[in-house]
Amino acid sequence: MPEDRIAAAPEVRIPDPVPAGIYALEVLKVTHYTDRLFAFRTERPAEFRFRSGEFVMIGLEIEGKPLYRAYSIASPSWDEEIEFFSIKVEDGPLTSVLQHLKPGDRVLMRKKATGTLVNDALLPGKRLWMLSTGTGIAPFASLIRDPETYEKFEQVILTHSCREVAELAYGHEIVAETKANELLGEMATAQLVHVPATTREAYPTMGRITTRIEDGSLFAALGVPPFDPAHDRVMICGSMEMLRDCKALCEKAGLTEGANNRPAEFVVERAFVD
Ligand code: A2P
Repeated sequence: MPEDRIAAAPEVRIPDPVPAGIYALEVLKVTHYTDRLFAFRTERPAEFRFRSGEFVMIGLEIEGKPLYRAYSIASPSWDEEIEFFSIKVEDGPLTSVLQHLKPGDRVLMRKKATGTLVNDALLPGKRLWMLSTGTGIAPFASLIRDPETYEKFEQVILTHSCREVAELAYGHEIVAETKANELLGEMATAQLVHVPATTREAYPTMGRITTRIEDGSLFAALGVPPFDPAHDRVMICGSMEMLRDCKALCEKAGLTEGANNRPAEFVVERAFVD
């Protein structure tokens, strides 16, 4: 390639000193799943607290400018490390750089976690539905590894829909790991149902989650009744369009949107980074 076509790597710096309110966390492990998806784990400061399902702002200082994006924490609140699941966007301001992280590098994280995809924002119920597309599975990777989720709900149904089969790998891995976990395994094996699906490549379950809710095939395949405000609670995480469409289906079924200070029957969170 001629030299003038090789783009210079942007300068990434960890500010010294690190500003108050921010951690500079060491990256411990990076796993690439596809050319669009990767996960990474960082150290966890002993005093950092969050509730499973919350998000934080993650960033880097690129060309002298701090750049942060919201990332759901994918690890549960009891974990000694912090895990994130990310998209890679070739010309994405942050992810184009973040995707090159290696163990030993540092990332910046604001100290405050927040969010609505938490057990506290839902009323107790029989069944918890987690509807996710793409990297929207991240907060649920946290919640399915939290024993509180199984104490609060009899059944936990995690739907993960992606364009292609390879994009389902992270979900398969987390579910298998949870079912094999010494402390969670028994509860997860009895209560957790994983429903992976694709929309653009042949797979046993195909079709958008919205289509499968509307035509009833999601419920029929599981042998459970459609959403009912008396029993069902729903958490939604994906692209803006997916959130809008799933929210409309919840409202059509008579479910009311909840919040931290007003728990109800469904909650929504955007977790897309571009
Ligand atoms: P589709 O292949 O039909 O677009 P993306 O990678 O673009 O974020 O999409 C992730 C998954 O979410 C894909 O399977 C995609 O289906 C699906 N999807 C996109 N928009 C919606 C929507 N409005 N409602 C439900 N699923 C959606």
